[in-house]
Amino acid sequence: MFSSSLPVKAVKKATIEFADSNKIFAWTESDGCLLDFAEANNLPAISSCRNGHCGACVVELLAGEIIYEHQISAALGGNEILLCSAKPATQHIILKL
Ligand code: FES
Repeated sequence: MFSSSLPVKAVKKATIEFADSNKIFAWTESDGCLLDFAEANNLPAISSCRNGHCGACVVELLAGEIIYEHQISAALGGNEILLCSAKPATQHIILKL
C-alpha cells in the first residue's frame, strides 16, 4: 500500500501496472513522468497544466511509492498522486488508471 514516508529519489527502472486498464509496462527514467508514460502507452490519462498545479491528472496510487521532482500545489487526498509530476520511487507501482 501507499506509504506516507517520502522516498528521496526516483528509481532508474520500474514496472508500472495500470489496474483499471489491466496493463503492465516497463518504465525507465528516459520515459519521463508517469503522465508522459501513460500517454505513450495509450492509456486514458487526463491532463491540463502538466506542472503539478491543476489536479487534472490525479490518479490513485494503489501500491508502491512515487516521488515528485518539482513542487506541486494541487490538493490531494488519501493515496492520490499527480501523474504529470511523479516518477516511480519503487520498482513496482500500481495505479488506478
Ligand atoms: S496536469 Fe495539472 S496537475 Fe497534472
